[in-house]
Amino acid sequence: MSNLIYYNGQFKEKGEVYIDPEDRGYLFADGVYEVIVAEEGGLFKLEEHFARLERSALGLDILLDDYKGLQEAAVKLLEGSGYPKAKLYIQVTRGTETRNHAYSDGLKPNVLMMVSRLAGNPAEYFQKGVKVITVPDERWSRCHIKAISLLPNVLAKTKAKREGAFEAIQIRDGFVTDGSSSNVFLVEDEIVITPPATNYILNGITRVVVLELAAKLGYLTREESISPDRLFAADQVFLTGTTTEVMPVCAIDGKKIGSGQPGRITMELYNAYRELLTRQ
Ligand code: PDD
Repeated sequence: MSNLIYYNGQFKEKGEVYIDPEDRGYLFADGVYEVIVAEEGGLFKLEEHFARLERSALGLDILLDDYKGLQEAAVKLLEGSGYPKAKLYIQVTRGTETRNHAYSDGLKPNVLMMVSRLAGNPAEYFQKGVKVITVPDERWSRCHIKAISLLPNVLAKTKAKREGAFEAIQIRDGFVTDGSSSNVFLVEDEIVITPPATNYILNGITRVVVLELAAKLGYLTREESISPDRLFAADQVFLTGTTTEVMPVCAIDGKKIGSGQPGRITMELYNAYRELLTRQ
């Protein structure tokens, strides 16, 4: 197993990477990121993740030239790691300069990529479902950008963890938005429903895959606003995300969802997703 890290065009040992204290990513969380998993099938939805990385960067006026070259380096890094199941983290920060809120034009972005072993979620979570809590959504209003400034997400997830829950579902202005690192779905009368991909949610790559899988399996899908009451009354609720996969939810804020067991449609989607992830 090698633990090489990619930093600004070079592959290095972790201890050899020097991060400048004046990197705007470090000083202002001024940057964007992606997380991609790889199992037998290689990096899952690599193109889609890189396309979103570029969109996120452009949304923040971070200009990086060579996404194709970076994608090739990502594959190299993964292959060199030797992990059978791996997680790739990619971060692009605006660049390095003396601390000043306003940034200068023409800064050269700093690009970091690292691979770690993917432990995956315990099988029990998928067999029994997980408990989640709800929290107010305290994020900014450009959540469609996958920015590294994640303090509200960090605080929400930690609150969930401290309360013995898997995830915190965020509520903004009376509607469900995202989990702290996942998207939210419900099933109502066999219809698969998720909030629309506005600027208030991160349009997950897994979310899009699951919407497509649901349609392929013959279910109606809808993207519409969801009130917390509707979530609590749903037949099934589940979360999606790169590291979350398709995760059944059995209780929200201590209230049982549906039968309190993972729902049939949820598990059909989980199985279809796993098949895609491992075979591509
Ligand atoms: N997070 N919503 C939020 C707020 C997220 O942070 C994520 C993913 C998702 C799901 O997106 P995707 O299906 O593309 O992974 C939704 C990553 C995994 C993270 O922050 O580690």
